[in-house]
Amino acid sequence: MKLMVVGGGGREHAIIKTLKKNPEITEIYALPGNGGIAADATCVDIGAKDIAGITAFAKENRVDFAVVAPDDPLVLGCVDALEEIGVPCFGPRANAAIIEGSKVFSKNLMKKYGIPTASYEVFTDLDVALAYAETCPVPIVVKADGLALGKGVLICETRDDVKAALRSMMEDKIFGASGSSVVMEEFLTGPEVSVLAFTDGNVVRPMVSSMDHKRAHDNDEGLNTGGMGTVAPNPYYTKEIADVCMETIFLPTIAAMNAEGRTFKGCLYFGLMLTPSGPRVIEYNCRFGDPETQVVLPLLKSDLYTIMKAVHDGTLADVDVTFSEGAACCVVCASDGYPGKYETGYPLTLPETADDEAVYVAGAKLKDGVLVTGGGRVLGAVAVRENLGCAIEAAYKVADGVQFENKYMRRDIGKRAMAANK
Ligand code: AMP
Ligand code: GLY
Repeated sequence: MKLMVVGGGGREHAIIKTLKKNPEITEIYALPGNGGIAADATCVDIGAKDIAGITAFAKENRVDFAVVAPDDPLVLGCVDALEEIGVPCFGPRANAAIIEGSKVFSKNLMKKYGIPTASYEVFTDLDVALAYAETCPVPIVVKADGLALGKGVLICETRDDVKAALRSMMEDKIFGASGSSVVMEEFLTGPEVSVLAFTDGNVVRPMVSSMDHKRAHDNDEGLNTGGMGTVAPNPYYTKEIADVCMETIFLPTIAAMNAEGRTFKGCLYFGLMLTPSGPRVIEYNCRFGDPETQVVLPLLKSDLYTIMKAVHDGTLADVDVTFSEGAACCVVCASDGYPGKYETGYPLTLPETADDEAVYVAGAKLKDGVLVTGGGRVLGAVAVRENLGCAIEAAYKVADGVQFENKYMRRDIGKRAMAANK
């Protein structure tokens, strides 16, 4: 069986390595993949946003099943295009991917169906928004409507900050067209939890919960990044809270999408905040999280391909989705300076890893057969152990064995989770 995975980061590397455990899969193409993924899949130089190139490749190479991992191709209709030519896919169609593609859509959906989230207002006119800024409560959160590489969210402490944020999004278009509409929403507090869930539109099977570390430096200081590390499970996410989320958030979201004629099939990512008045949705993503996937999939005991196929077929109720009792930690090794300016092209040496460890490569290239760094986030060093403390220690051991000239990592991944555990 030939599979195709669209995307080329650490998340995709984790998906590919997990899929490979199924002996029926004889070939995996990664479009475009990266220099590190090349050790586990055939990388093809077709960009994840090149929908025409992707469909042409799938047809020519008679791909049996495709996994579309990143947000951009999903929102652009990659699944629609592939299914049109008869290639079954894991991932939502464009009309469902809008749950991530438009914050105005997702906020309105939650309001219409009573799904708990921060209260909000939507603005499409700068002057109206600026007038609201005169009286709005602060702190307040200003969000650009569309995809903005996870950066379109500004937390404003003062009304002047609010006005500056509105001007930069709606007038200066710092996030491009995605700032034509903005959402201004209530500032919430509480621990954040990521829950990825498989759904075929009929049933929803949440995966083990996780915790991201978004800031660049220790103690959650520095700029927001794509994620500097993760742990799973998230100790704040108790069985009781999971039950509340299932009843008030997960099932209502699936039902709401069905009612709108936008059945969601794939991995739905719930970014949650556990506020003093209960769990609230901070954001939906229409895909696996990065670097959440790097700690969630290593804990999956069931076969990933079987689940993905069942999601496509609408038979998820019939398959096993179980996770091991242990814990996992992912420490991201980045190029020093990320998410600002950084240098790449340094030779990269990866350590030997045991069966319960992995290195998932995010940004690397093969240059004359030598692996060199090629991005801000270079890789995630991952370990699975019987408990979180051991997983963290082991993941750092793997990360310490990674060599490249400007290696930078946070030293406190999992520290907050360990404190919460006590
Ligand atoms: P998002 O891209 O929507 O996940 O937002 C990025 C980050 O901004 C989140 O992970 C939160 O830490 C923070 N954030 C987003 N919305 C809110 C909110 N309503 N209240 C407090 N923090 C928020
Ligand atoms: N780690 C957050 C995301 O994938 O959007």
